[in-house]
Amino acid sequence: MAEVIIVKDEDEAGELYASCVADLIRSKPDAVLGLATGSSPLAAYRHLARRVAQDGIDVSKVRGFALDEYAGLDPRHPQSYRSTITRTVVEPVGLNPDLVHVPDGNLKTIAGAGRAYDATIEAAGGVDLQILGIGTDGHIGFNEPGSSLASGTRIKTLAEQTRIDNARFFDGDIERVPTHCITQGIGTILKARHLVLLAFGAGKAEAIEETCEGGISAFCPASALQLHPHATVIVDEAAASRLRHKDYYKYAFAHKPAWQGI
Ligand code: F6R
Repeated sequence: MAEVIIVKDEDEAGELYASCVADLIRSKPDAVLGLATGSSPLAAYRHLARRVAQDGIDVSKVRGFALDEYAGLDPRHPQSYRSTITRTVVEPVGLNPDLVHVPDGNLKTIAGAGRAYDATIEAAGGVDLQILGIGTDGHIGFNEPGSSLASGTRIKTLAEQTRIDNARFFDGDIERVPTHCITQGIGTILKARHLVLLAFGAGKAEAIEETCEGGISAFCPASALQLHPHATVIVDEAAASRLRHKDYYKYAFAHKPAWQGI
Protein backbone atom coordinates (compact mmCIF):
# COMPACT_ATOMS: atom_id res chain seq x y z
CA MET A 1 0.00 0.00 0.00
CA ALA A 2 1.25 3.47 -0.86
CA GLU A 3 2.15 5.95 1.83
CA VAL A 4 -0.41 8.76 1.74
CA ILE A 5 0.75 12.23 2.76
CA ILE A 6 -1.88 14.95 3.15
CA VAL A 7 -0.45 18.42 2.66
CA LYS A 8 -1.77 21.97 2.86
CA ASP A 9 -1.18 22.81 -0.77
CA GLU A 10 0.84 22.22 -3.93
CA ASP A 11 3.78 24.18 -2.52
CA GLU A 12 4.14 21.87 0.46
CA ALA A 13 3.97 18.88 -1.89
CA GLY A 14 6.54 20.54 -4.13
CA GLU A 15 8.94 21.01 -1.21
CA LEU A 16 8.68 17.32 -0.33
CA TYR A 17 9.40 16.31 -3.92
CA ALA A 18 12.28 18.77 -4.28
CA SER A 19 13.94 17.53 -1.07
CA CYS A 20 13.59 13.96 -2.18
CA VAL A 21 15.14 14.68 -5.61
CA ALA A 22 17.92 16.80 -4.07
CA ASP A 23 18.87 13.93 -1.73
CA LEU A 24 18.76 11.49 -4.62
CA ILE A 25 21.05 13.59 -6.83
CA ARG A 26 23.51 14.14 -3.98
CA SER A 27 23.84 10.39 -3.53
CA LYS A 28 23.63 9.60 -7.26
CA PRO A 29 24.73 12.48 -9.53
CA ASP A 30 23.52 10.69 -12.68
CA ALA A 31 20.11 9.86 -11.17
CA VAL A 32 17.31 8.96 -13.56
CA LEU A 33 14.14 11.03 -13.08
CA GLY A 34 10.78 9.99 -14.50
CA LEU A 35 8.97 13.15 -15.60
CA ALA A 36 5.29 13.91 -16.04
CA THR A 37 3.48 16.78 -17.72
CA GLY A 38 0.12 18.33 -16.81
CA SER A 39 -0.71 20.76 -14.01
CA SER A 40 -0.03 18.58 -10.97
CA PRO A 41 3.80 18.54 -11.06
CA LEU A 42 4.30 22.24 -11.89
CA ALA A 43 4.84 23.44 -8.32
CA ALA A 44 7.13 20.47 -7.69
CA TYR A 45 9.31 21.44 -10.65
CA ARG A 46 9.38 25.06 -9.49
CA HIS A 47 10.55 24.01 -6.04
CA LEU A 48 13.12 21.67 -7.54
CA ALA A 49 14.52 24.47 -9.71
CA ARG A 50 14.76 26.74 -6.67
CA ARG A 51 16.41 24.07 -4.53
CA VAL A 52 18.96 23.24 -7.22
CA ALA A 53 19.90 26.91 -7.60
CA GLN A 54 19.93 27.62 -3.84
CA ASP A 55 22.02 24.59 -2.87
CA GLY A 56 24.22 24.69 -5.98
CA ILE A 57 23.36 21.08 -6.85
CA ASP A 58 25.16 19.78 -9.94
CA VAL A 59 22.48 18.39 -12.27
CA SER A 60 24.68 18.11 -15.35
CA LYS A 61 24.60 14.31 -15.30
CA VAL A 62 20.95 13.86 -14.32
CA ARG A 63 18.97 11.88 -16.86
CA GLY A 64 15.23 12.02 -17.51
CA PHE A 65 12.43 10.06 -19.16
CA ALA A 66 9.02 11.56 -19.86
CA LEU A 67 5.96 9.41 -19.34
CA ASP A 68 4.17 10.09 -22.56
CA GLU A 69 3.69 12.07 -25.75
CA TYR A 70 0.81 12.84 -28.07
CA ALA A 71 0.81 10.85 -31.29
CA GLY A 72 1.14 12.81 -34.48
CA LEU A 73 1.82 16.16 -32.82
CA ASP A 74 4.97 17.91 -34.01
CA PRO A 75 7.48 17.85 -31.12
CA ARG A 76 7.96 21.61 -31.74
CA HIS A 77 4.24 22.25 -31.08
CA PRO A 78 4.01 24.23 -27.81
CA GLN A 79 1.67 21.61 -26.31
CA SER A 80 3.74 18.57 -27.31
CA TYR A 81 5.08 16.87 -24.22
CA ARG A 82 8.61 17.39 -25.57
CA SER A 83 8.01 21.16 -25.51
CA THR A 84 6.20 21.00 -22.18
CA ILE A 85 8.93 19.02 -20.45
CA THR A 86 11.57 21.39 -21.87
CA ARG A 87 9.66 24.47 -20.69
CA THR A 88 8.57 23.23 -17.26
CA VAL A 89 11.51 21.11 -16.09
CA VAL A 90 14.55 20.93 -18.34
CA GLU A 91 15.12 24.68 -18.68
CA PRO A 92 14.16 25.84 -15.18
CA VAL A 93 16.10 23.08 -13.42
CA GLY A 94 19.02 23.32 -15.84
CA LEU A 95 19.02 19.70 -16.99
CA ASN A 96 21.03 18.70 -20.03
CA PRO A 97 18.36 18.35 -22.78
CA ASP A 98 20.41 15.65 -24.50
CA LEU A 99 19.93 13.43 -21.45
CA VAL A 100 16.15 13.85 -21.33
CA HIS A 101 14.08 11.45 -23.41
CA VAL A 102 10.47 11.73 -24.54
CA PRO A 103 8.61 8.89 -26.30
CA ASP A 104 8.56 9.22 -30.08
CA GLY A 105 5.06 10.20 -31.19
CA ASN A 106 5.94 10.29 -34.89
CA LEU A 107 3.22 8.29 -36.64
CA LYS A 108 5.72 6.84 -39.13
CA THR A 109 7.88 5.25 -36.43
CA ILE A 110 5.47 4.89 -33.52
CA ALA A 111 4.88 1.15 -34.02
CA GLY A 112 8.34 0.21 -32.76
CA ALA A 113 8.90 3.25 -30.58
CA GLY A 114 7.44 1.80 -27.39
CA ARG A 115 9.73 -1.18 -27.21
CA ALA A 116 12.71 0.99 -28.09
CA TYR A 117 11.80 3.43 -25.29
CA ASP A 118 11.57 0.68 -22.68
CA ALA A 119 14.94 -0.66 -23.85
CA THR A 120 16.48 2.82 -23.46
CA ILE A 121 15.10 3.11 -19.92
CA GLU A 122 16.51 -0.29 -19.07
CA ALA A 123 19.91 0.56 -20.58
CA ALA A 124 19.97 3.65 -18.34
CA GLY A 125 19.58 1.36 -15.31
CA GLY A 126 15.88 2.13 -14.76
CA VAL A 127 14.10 5.15 -13.32
CA ASP A 128 15.05 6.12 -9.77
CA LEU A 129 12.16 8.46 -9.01
CA GLN A 130 9.01 8.74 -11.09
CA ILE A 131 6.68 11.69 -10.54
CA LEU A 132 3.05 11.04 -11.54
CA GLY A 133 -0.18 12.95 -11.87
CA ILE A 134 -3.53 11.17 -12.02
CA GLY A 135 -6.46 11.65 -14.40
CA THR A 136 -9.99 12.09 -13.12
CA ASP A 137 -10.61 8.58 -14.47
CA GLY A 138 -7.64 7.14 -12.56
CA HIS A 139 -5.18 7.07 -15.45
CA ILE A 140 -1.44 7.38 -14.90
CA GLY A 141 0.74 8.26 -17.84
CA PHE A 142 -1.90 7.91 -20.54
CA ASN A 143 -2.92 4.44 -19.39
CA GLU A 144 -6.65 4.82 -19.59
CA PRO A 145 -9.05 2.55 -17.66
CA GLY A 146 -8.76 -1.00 -18.99
CA SER A 147 -5.01 -0.77 -19.61
CA SER A 148 -3.08 -3.92 -18.77
CA LEU A 149 -1.34 -3.63 -15.43
CA ALA A 150 1.65 -5.38 -17.05
CA SER A 151 1.81 -3.12 -20.12
CA GLY A 152 4.97 -1.71 -21.63
CA THR A 153 5.30 1.57 -23.55
CA ARG A 154 2.90 1.59 -26.49
CA ILE A 155 0.37 3.57 -28.49
CA LYS A 156 -3.01 4.15 -26.80
CA THR A 157 -6.30 5.80 -27.66
CA LEU A 158 -7.07 8.71 -25.34
CA ALA A 159 -10.40 8.52 -23.50
CA GLU A 160 -12.84 11.26 -24.43
CA GLN A 161 -12.76 12.49 -20.79
CA THR A 162 -8.98 12.95 -21.01
CA ARG A 163 -9.36 14.91 -24.24
CA ILE A 164 -12.03 17.08 -22.56
CA ASP A 165 -9.74 17.58 -19.52
CA ASN A 166 -6.77 18.50 -21.75
CA ALA A 167 -8.67 20.76 -24.14
CA ARG A 168 -7.66 23.61 -21.79
CA PHE A 169 -4.15 23.33 -23.22
CA PHE A 170 -5.52 23.65 -26.78
CA ASP A 171 -7.56 26.87 -26.42
CA GLY A 172 -10.48 24.85 -25.05
CA ASP A 173 -10.97 23.10 -28.40
CA ILE A 174 -11.29 19.31 -27.96
CA GLU A 175 -10.99 18.83 -31.73
CA ARG A 176 -7.38 19.98 -31.51
CA VAL A 177 -6.48 17.44 -28.80
CA PRO A 178 -4.91 14.41 -30.49
CA THR A 179 -6.88 11.16 -30.23
CA HIS A 180 -3.82 8.96 -29.67
CA CYS A 181 -0.66 8.98 -27.62
CA ILE A 182 2.37 6.90 -26.80
CA THR A 183 2.71 6.21 -23.10
CA GLN A 184 4.89 4.30 -20.72
CA GLY A 185 2.90 1.24 -19.71
CA ILE A 186 1.83 0.47 -16.18
CA GLY A 187 4.38 -2.34 -16.13
CA THR A 188 7.04 0.19 -17.18
CA ILE A 189 6.00 2.67 -14.49
CA LEU A 190 6.01 -0.02 -11.80
CA LYS A 191 9.68 -0.75 -12.55
CA ALA A 192 10.73 2.69 -11.28
CA ARG A 193 12.29 2.42 -7.84
CA HIS A 194 10.18 5.14 -6.21
CA LEU A 195 6.82 6.48 -7.37
CA VAL A 196 5.53 9.86 -6.20
CA LEU A 197 1.95 10.61 -7.25
CA LEU A 198 0.59 14.13 -6.78
CA ALA A 199 -3.10 15.08 -6.82
CA PHE A 200 -4.82 18.30 -5.87
CA GLY A 201 -8.43 19.47 -5.80
CA ALA A 202 -11.83 17.87 -5.31
CA GLY A 203 -11.93 16.73 -8.93
CA LYS A 204 -9.31 14.09 -8.09
CA ALA A 205 -10.97 12.85 -4.86
CA GLU A 206 -12.78 9.89 -6.38
CA ALA A 207 -9.75 8.73 -8.36
CA ILE A 208 -7.60 8.98 -5.22
CA GLU A 209 -10.11 7.02 -3.17
CA GLU A 210 -10.14 4.23 -5.76
CA THR A 211 -6.35 4.33 -6.12
CA CYS A 212 -5.58 4.06 -2.42
CA GLU A 213 -8.53 2.29 -0.87
CA GLY A 214 -10.24 0.48 -3.72
CA GLY A 215 -9.36 -2.88 -5.21
CA ILE A 216 -6.48 -3.26 -7.64
CA SER A 217 -8.05 -3.06 -11.06
CA ALA A 218 -7.14 -2.19 -14.62
CA PHE A 219 -10.22 0.04 -14.47
CA CYS A 220 -8.39 2.34 -12.08
CA PRO A 221 -4.86 2.13 -13.52
CA ALA A 222 -3.35 4.12 -10.64
CA SER A 223 -4.48 1.38 -8.22
CA ALA A 224 -1.45 -0.56 -9.52
CA LEU A 225 0.54 1.61 -7.09
CA GLN A 226 -0.71 -0.73 -4.36
CA LEU A 227 1.60 -3.35 -5.88
CA HIS A 228 4.69 -1.14 -5.63
CA PRO A 229 7.09 -1.46 -2.70
CA HIS A 230 7.81 2.30 -2.53
CA ALA A 231 4.94 4.48 -3.66
CA THR A 232 4.11 7.87 -2.12
CA VAL A 233 0.79 9.60 -2.77
CA ILE A 234 0.83 13.31 -1.90
CA VAL A 235 -2.58 15.00 -1.87
CA ASP A 236 -4.23 18.12 -0.54
CA GLU A 237 -7.29 17.98 1.75
CA ALA A 238 -9.70 18.27 -1.18
CA ALA A 239 -8.20 15.34 -3.07
CA ALA A 240 -8.04 13.37 0.20
CA SER A 241 -11.64 14.16 1.12
CA ARG A 242 -13.06 10.70 0.30
CA LEU A 243 -10.32 8.67 2.01
CA ARG A 244 -11.62 6.59 4.92
CA HIS A 245 -8.24 6.23 6.62
CA LYS A 246 -7.27 9.89 6.44
CA ASP A 247 -6.64 10.17 10.17
CA TYR A 248 -4.28 7.21 10.13
CA TYR A 249 -2.28 8.65 7.20
CA LYS A 250 -1.90 11.95 9.05
CA TYR A 251 -0.91 10.18 12.26
CA ALA A 252 1.62 7.97 10.49
CA PHE A 253 3.25 10.90 8.69
CA ALA A 254 3.35 13.05 11.86
CA HIS A 255 5.23 10.25 13.65
CA LYS A 256 7.56 9.37 10.78
CA PRO A 257 11.26 9.77 11.61
CA ALA A 258 12.66 12.65 9.53
CA TRP A 259 15.62 10.56 8.35
CA GLN A 260 13.26 8.31 6.42
CA GLY A 261 12.36 11.07 3.95
CA ILE A 262 9.40 10.18 1.77
C1 F6R B 1 1.03 13.58 -18.05
C2 F6R B 1 0.35 12.39 -17.65
C3 F6R B 1 -1.06 12.38 -17.14
C4 F6R B 1 -1.38 13.50 -16.18
C5 F6R B 1 -2.83 13.43 -15.75
C6 F6R B 1 -3.19 14.52 -14.76
O1 F6R B 1 2.35 13.29 -18.47
O2 F6R B 1 0.94 11.39 -17.75
O3 F6R B 1 -1.30 11.15 -16.49
O4 F6R B 1 -0.53 13.39 -15.08
O5 F6R B 1 -3.64 13.54 -16.86
O6 F6R B 1 -3.07 15.75 -15.37
P1 F6R B 1 -3.12 17.10 -14.53
O7 F6R B 1 -1.93 17.06 -13.64
O8 F6R B 1 -3.03 18.19 -15.54
O9 F6R B 1 -4.39 17.08 -13.76
